[in-house]
Amino acid sequence: MSTPYSFDTMIDRRGTNATKWDKMERLFGVSPEDGLSMWTADSDYATAPCVIDAIRKAADHGVFGYSWDHPDYLHAVSWWMKNRHGWEVDPEWVLTSQGLGNAIALCLQTWTEPGDGVVIFTPVYHEFAMKIGKNGRKVVECPMVRDGDSYVLDLDDAQSRLTGNESMLIFCSPQNPSGRVWTVDELRAVADFAARNNLMFISDEIHQDLVFEGHTHVPTAVAAPEILPRLITLSAASKTFNIAGQRTGNMIIPDPDLRATMRKRLAALDYGAAMLSVDMITAAYSPAGAEWVDQQLLHLTRNREVFDAGVNAIPGVRSLPLQSTYLAWVDFSGTGMSHDEVAARIRDDAKIAVSPGPSFGTGGDGFQRINLATQGARVEDAVARLQRAFADLQ
Ligand SMILES: Cc1ncc(COP(=O)(O)O)c(C=O)c1O
Repeated sequence: MSTPYSFDTMIDRRGTNATKWDKMERLFGVSPEDGLSMWTADSDYATAPCVIDAIRKAADHGVFGYSWDHPDYLHAVSWWMKNRHGWEVDPEWVLTSQGLGNAIALCLQTWTEPGDGVVIFTPVYHEFAMKIGKNGRKVVECPMVRDGDSYVLDLDDAQSRLTGNESMLIFCSPQNPSGRVWTVDELRAVADFAARNNLMFISDEIHQDLVFEGHTHVPTAVAAPEILPRLITLSAASKTFNIAGQRTGNMIIPDPDLRATMRKRLAALDYGAAMLSVDMITAAYSPAGAEWVDQQLLHLTRNREVFDAGVNAIPGVRSLPLQSTYLAWVDFSGTGMSHDEVAARIRDDAKIAVSPGPSFGTGGDGFQRINLATQGARVEDAVARLQRAFADLQ
């Protein structure tokens, strides 16, 4: 089944300063000449036509003077949250950051002190721990528990790891890299955990839009409204619309005191939204953008099916069924090989650049994260390469 959009049109990103392709040799030792790049979380296909039209319109106009995160933009964010996620967001609550990595750093610097503990549930997006460390705070890792093909939180175990020195929880919902979409009960339990331990709750919901059939993302603010006085929700159009290079995201802060504190910090930094990003996101968060995302999900569903069927046929390899995200989380531990040997085969034999599981913290050993947001032909190619690289296991 094909869609009116061009998710399968081959696009050569090499030589365009795309981190994913033009840095892969330097970072992973895989040449872009004959290699496949399946590491960092952006997509290889073009963004939605409505977003490209917005850039064309701006380019045709030709004037790129000062702009701001204007009411049309804030209303578009609010429209999206209501229509896609059932959350009534007052446009006033939306503060713009330079992407969500930047938002996490801003939250750390605003609501924790150097030396404070910051709780994360691992394995998780590696930049959580990096940002905590780079800002002089302490990472408090609470490992998730493998539950068959999925993961659950063990909040009793997490409680036992706290020392009383913790001031923040950074939570990933939906979860990167496991793809878990948390249920309302799970969200309520983790919100209660944060409240009991007096932790600021940073809910990183960047992957909120790419959720597969059978699962529903519920914003933490909707699941557990009682924690609004300690909740910052982070959201962005960057993964959903493949516009991460624009480096723009939002901090949605319903609590007026928390919002005033963050506004003050943004003013102190003289932070201002970039005109083209704001125009692109305003165009994306629209009915036309929603239709494109629905079609993208069908494309990702097919990629996921092809990938899982192909790699799960390799003895000892298990791609966990994704509930969300385009990031396959693949367990190679059943092969009996060391991480280094698996990594060497993927790099040198399959010639694929992937994200190594251990970089996601405790629980990542034995895993590789493989980005499926690409053309179907590239997914088929990746499967064939992996099957050849591990052919001796057949
Ligand atoms: C959970 C999560 N948060 C934040 C980011 C980074 O966001 P940004 O590119 O807006 O800094 C990513 C990127 O992969 C992510 O997966």
